[in-house]
Amino acid sequence: MTEYEFVRHPDLMEMESHYDDQWQKYSNHREIVTKTLASFANQKSSLCVLGCGACFDLELAELIRDFFKITLVDLSGDAIQFGLKKQSVRASNNVVVIDGVDLAGVDQFLTRYLQHPSRILLDKIIMEARDYSPDELEKYDVIASTCLLSQLLAKATECVDEKDHRFVELLVEIRKRHIEIMLDSLKSGGTGVLVTDFVSSDALPELFSVAAADLTSLLQTAIQEKNYLHGLNPKMVAAVFQDPIISERIRSLKVSAPWRWITADKIYACFSIVFEKAGDDQAEESSL
Ligand SMILES: C[S@@+](CC[C@H](N)C(=O)[O-])C[C@H]1O[C@@H](n2cnc3c(N)ncnc32)[C@H](O)[C@@H]1O
Repeated sequence: MTEYEFVRHPDLMEMESHYDDQWQKYSNHREIVTKTLASFANQKSSLCVLGCGACFDLELAELIRDFFKITLVDLSGDAIQFGLKKQSVRASNNVVVIDGVDLAGVDQFLTRYLQHPSRILLDKIIMEARDYSPDELEKYDVIASTCLLSQLLAKATECVDEKDHRFVELLVEIRKRHIEIMLDSLKSGGTGVLVTDFVSSDALPELFSVAAADLTSLLQTAIQEKNYLHGLNPKMVAAVFQDPIISERIRSLKVSAPWRWITADKIYACFSIVFEKAGDDQAEESSL
C-alpha cells in the first residue's frame, strides 16, 4: 500500500496504535491550524473543514466552543469517525459530518486511467476537474482546507505520467478548482484558510534538524532548487489568486510564514493562505 493509499483508506488499528505519539507530535501544527481558524470565529459563524481526516490538526472542543456550527468533510468516513471518537465528540446538529465526498471529483476516473490510460479518458478527467462542484457543500462563514490539496495532486501524480504533455495542465486545473470550490462555498465576506504542505523530509531531510530561525531560508533555497511537491510551489499556489476570475472574488489575501508539521515518521513544511471573499456588491462592481 502506498503512503497515498494509506491516507485514503486508513488502517484504523495502525492509527490506534500510533495515536498518542501522532497526537503529541502534531501539537505545534494543530495549534497553528486551530488558532488560525478560531481567530475568525464568533458565536453565530459556521466553519467547514475540507480534508479533516482524523482531525489530528483540529482542537475540536475549542472550535465547537467558538463556532456556532462546524462541518467536517473527507473522503474517508472511517478517519472522521475515528478522530471524533478520540476527541470525545459526537456528530450532532452543530457538528455535521459529510463523508465519502471526493473533493476533486476525478478520483475514480484517475484510478481507471491508471489501469487503462487513454487520451480520451485524460481529456475527460481534465474537463471534469475543471468543472467539478461538490453538491454536498453549503455556504459557510469560514472554510478551511487542511493539507488536502497535496493529496488531491498526489493522486493525479500517481496516476498520470509526469512526462505526459497534459500532466501539468491537470494539476493546474485541480489546484485552481480547489480554490474556486472554497470560494463557492463561502458566504460573502467569509474567510478561506488554505493550509498546505509543500515539501517533506523525504526530499528535504534538513527539515529534521533545521533551527526555527533558519527554516524560511532553508525553504527558499529548496523552492529555488525546485524541491517541492508537484503543483505546490508556494509562489505558484499564491499566484492562482491572481487569476482574473478569482481575484475579483476576493478582497484580501495573506500568505503565512512556513512552519513544520511533524508526524510520526516525517516532517512536512506547510504554509497557509488566508483570503477574504468579496461581498457580492464588490464582486459585481469589479466585473463591470
Ligand atoms: C493528509 S490528510 C489531512 C490531515 C488531517 N487534516 C488530519 O489532521 O488528520 C488528507 C486527508 O485528505 C483526504 N482526502 C484525500 N483525497 C481526497 C479526496 N479526493 N476528497 C476528499 N478527501 C480526500 C484523506 O482521506 C485524508 O483524510
